Amino acid sequence: MHLISVTNNNEMSQKAATIISTLVTQKPNAVLGLATGGTPEKTYKALVMDHQQNGTSYSKIHTVNLDEYVGINPQDSNSYHSYMYHHFFKYIDIPANQTHLPDGEHASVDYCASYDQLIESLGGVDLQLLGIGRNGHIGFNEPGTPLTIGTHVVKLTPSTRQANARYFTDLSKVPDQAITMGIGTILKSRKIILIASGKDKAEAVRRLLDCSAPDDDFPASALVAHPDVTIIADEQALSLTK
Ligand code: F6R
Repeated sequence: MHLISVTNNNEMSQKAATIISTLVTQKPNAVLGLATGGTPEKTYKALVMDHQQNGTSYSKIHTVNLDEYVGINPQDSNSYHSYMYHHFFKYIDIPANQTHLPDGEHASVDYCASYDQLIESLGGVDLQLLGIGRNGHIGFNEPGTPLTIGTHVVKLTPSTRQANARYFTDLSKVPDQAITMGIGTILKSRKIILIASGKDKAEAVRRLLDCSAPDDDFPASALVAHPDVTIIADEQALSLTK
């Protein structure tokens, strides 16, 4: 794992955006694996600015997102479909039918398998963007999830529901299940960038950088087995790392 340490969230976002836009320029039909949440918001802003100022085109790009809540309509303002549209897709030139997210209204085993097949049929993910949960989750792969499985339905832990409650009117409205790419799916990506910002992530980043072997109890540890992982973390996220 390669670490890029930066000062703050702005610098982290700019670095991540530069890596992504460079790939899009070099490989205009690349497949981008994307994440939602608070951490990548400014990365998407920087990519939108790059698109507007430098004309980086997404017309041949496909995107596949990590996850979506179960039981939420794609039009719902709390869906990850809405997040992606409002933070990124509506500002760039990507055709809607080239943006793929799990459908939270079709949480069957067959549907999950078809999401992995879709990724394979696109030729696999060239670059996967990840955030990290305080408990080390990546995607919605919570501690205890086997590190080899594909896309599946998960029950969200109380701490993850609590962390995501800020987007909902109250905690009871946060779905208790999600569809997520499995760690097995994530590890098939050719390149992975994990971004982390703020004190809340300091313990998870410390554990990740200390990892020497994959361990189910800390899902992000699976990344040590991947040949091309870059972690971009800011000073606060690195504050517990020696
Ligand atoms: C989001 C995702 C999650 C988040 C993680 C951190 O698509 O897969 O793993 O990356 O929960 O979320 P934030 O960035 O909101 O702290």
